[in-house]
Amino acid sequence: MNTGDTQKPPPDSRGRSAGEVRRTTVPREHRETVGEVRVENPRIRCTDVNVWYGETHAVHNISIDVGHNEILALIGPSGCGKTTFLRCMNRMNDTIAGCRVEGEILVDGANVNGPEIDVVPLRARMGMVFQKPNPFPKSIFENVAFGPRIHGLTANQLELEEIVVTSLQKAGLWEEVKDRLEEPGTGLSGGQQQRLCIARAIAVQPEVILMDEPCSALDPIATATIENLMVDLSQNYSICIVTHSMQQAARVSQRTAFFHLGDLIEVGETSELFIRPGHQLTEDYITGRFG
Ligand SMILES: Nc1ncnc2c1ncn2[C@@H]1O[C@H](COP(=O)(O)OP(=O)(O)OP(=O)(O)O)[C@@H](O)[C@H]1O
Ligand SMILES: [Mg+2]
Repeated sequence: MNTGDTQKPPPDSRGRSAGEVRRTTVPREHRETVGEVRVENPRIRCTDVNVWYGETHAVHNISIDVGHNEILALIGPSGCGKTTFLRCMNRMNDTIAGCRVEGEILVDGANVNGPEIDVVPLRARMGMVFQKPNPFPKSIFENVAFGPRIHGLTANQLELEEIVVTSLQKAGLWEEVKDRLEEPGTGLSGGQQQRLCIARAIAVQPEVILMDEPCSALDPIATATIENLMVDLSQNYSICIVTHSMQQAARVSQRTAFFHLGDLIEVGETSELFIRPGHQLTEDYITGRFG
C-alpha cells in the first residue's frame, strides 16, 4: 500500500539516509562482473569505485586491476562510464563541479584519494592523452619541456633538452620534427599532434598512461603509428585505453574490460573475451547487436 513515502528515495547500500544522497531513481542491483578482475602485483588496484554527477550514478561499484607493463582496454557503448572511470584514476573528475567519487584506487599501493596526495604530481605520474589532441599554444620544444620544467625534473638546460629529445623519440615523432622544434605544436598534423601529446605525457616520467580514444580523430596510418607506439611504451608503462574500436582493443591490449550502463560487466584476456565472451551482454556488444 502506498504510505505516502514513495517520493523519498530509500537509504542507499551504504546506509546513508535519503537526505544525504538524493537520487532520481531507486538504485538497482549492481551487476557482478564476470571474469577475473584482479592480477598479481597490480600497478593500479580499484575497489568498489562509484561516481555520481549530481544525482546521476554514472559508475557502479567497479573493481579492477591494471598490471605492470599491461595494456588494458575499456570498451562499451557510448555513455556507459568509460571516460568517467578513466578520469577517476588521476583525479581528473575533481575538476568537474558536482562530480563525486567513492571507493579506493591504489597506485603502487598508495590511495590516490588520500589526504596526503597532491594532484599535480599525481597527474604527472598518471599522464592522460585525450580524444582530441590538445597541444599547448607553444613551440614543439616547449610543449614537451613545459612539464619537466615545472616539476623541477632537470638541473639545467642540457638535461632538459635531453628529455625533450628522448621523449620525442619514444613517441615516434623525433625524425619528423627535429628541424622545426621552434615551430608551434598546433601546426602539426592531427596524428603528429597526438604523438606530441604522448611525448608531453612521457616527458614527466609517468608510471601510467591513460588514453581516452586517442585514435578516434586519426586516419588508419596515424592510428597504426600510435598503436605501435602504445605497444612499445607498454614495455615501460601501464596503459589504460578507452576505445570504440574492438579491432584496436584486439590489436593492442592484453586484457579487456566491457562496461555497460555504469557497470563493469566482464573482464578477461582480450583474445578470450572476443572469442568466448562469458556474458550475454558482452556477446551482444561485440557481435554488433547494440552499441
Ligand atoms: N560532466 C558531466 N556532467 C554530468 N553527467 C556526465 C558528465 N560526464 C559524463 N556524464 C554522464 O555520465 C555517464 C557516463 O559518461 P561517460 O562520458 O563516462 O561515458 P563514456 O562511456 O565515456 O561514453 P562515450 O563512449 O560516448 O565517450 C553518461 O550518462 C553521461 O551523460
Ligand atoms: Mg568517453
